Amino acid sequence: MSDELDRIRREMHAVLQQPGVRPDDSLKLTRRTFIHRSLLFGAVSVGQTFAWWPLLNTIDVAHAAEAPFKFAWISDTHLYERSLNTRFVDKVVRAVQEVQAMDPPADFLIFGGDLAQLGKIEELELGVELLKDLSIKKYYIPGEHDWYLDMGKKWGELFGQPNWTFDHKGVRFIGLDTVSRGPDYWTVKKMTPEERMGHMATLDGTVAGAWAGVGRDQLDWMQKTLADWDKSKPIVIFSHNPLYEYYPPWNFWVRDWREVNEVLKPYTKVTNIHGHVHQVLYNEIGSMRSIGMLATSWPWPYAPEGVPKLTKPMIRVDPGDHFDGVGWETVNVNADDRVDVEYIMWGRKEVFVQSDPDSSLSQPEKLRPRMADNMWPY
Ligand SMILES: [Fe+2]
Ligand SMILES: [Fe+2]
Repeated sequence: MSDELDRIRREMHAVLQQPGVRPDDSLKLTRRTFIHRSLLFGAVSVGQTFAWWPLLNTIDVAHAAEAPFKFAWISDTHLYERSLNTRFVDKVVRAVQEVQAMDPPADFLIFGGDLAQLGKIEELELGVELLKDLSIKKYYIPGEHDWYLDMGKKWGELFGQPNWTFDHKGVRFIGLDTVSRGPDYWTVKKMTPEERMGHMATLDGTVAGAWAGVGRDQLDWMQKTLADWDKSKPIVIFSHNPLYEYYPPWNFWVRDWREVNEVLKPYTKVTNIHGHVHQVLYNEIGSMRSIGMLATSWPWPYAPEGVPKLTKPMIRVDPGDHFDGVGWETVNVNADDRVDVEYIMWGRKEVFVQSDPDSSLSQPEKLRPRMADNMWPY
């Protein structure tokens, strides 16, 4: 397995990290670490409860939009039935209330997968019920937790086709299904649906294997969908798993990232927004940038090998506070060629003051580099 991973990494590096290839040059990448909004407005008193808008990290990426707009993202709610656990319910309620309160309102919401924890009908229906309070248009892509109990039956009944596309104010949006094409590890072992689901619900899924992928049919669909789209116009692709190799043992990737890259290569303004990793994450490969989003449920640790260089890591400061290290996001598409992702991270209180506002890439960051970055430096 490690030889295979090694081979894949070398290949990925050779294919994707070619000299000079980066997301569109007009896309200025700046990252600003904000202190709390109330600090920005100069209204902080010691002991104040910061329950609202803890903007921790803004990543500006960029695109031309016909008119400025913003949309919201919620994912990885991992709902249990109410009778078992209401902790995750509370956080969905909070996220929904906050999105609903956005002013100006979000144009739409993307739900990025893992609505349910064990794929149960009751869990999925609970999710629908909680999100019903949100009056804006909602689009859903599936996560593995939604899928592998009944192989997407209930999810399909509730939300329809898992991959879709639409245009909005000069941006083409694509939702991908990266979860449904896992290899069949259950039939030969005569697993029950619950056993199958159980293997999908672990992070280190050695039994389930490399289940995350886009699939040839969906790649063809994506290519067709993009055929009439101007190469220099913005594309935003939503996927549950990241569309690059971050950490395969946890399926923090799609196994057919090469093919995805082939399809997207001609386009210069591609942003991939993904869930599954439950953490602040940022990476660029070729002309595509990928942004990892927070869960409302819990934060996963960073991969043992470290994170892509451009990631500014998020940590859970207080493991006992289940609102810490989680939250949701707004995405602002500005007329001045930028897309800003704002992490709305809850529970940060005073401790999230990490660096000066408006720090930029020119300031060296001390991150533990990934093994792959060390072996094949840029
Ligand atoms: Fe998740
Ligand atoms: Fe997931």
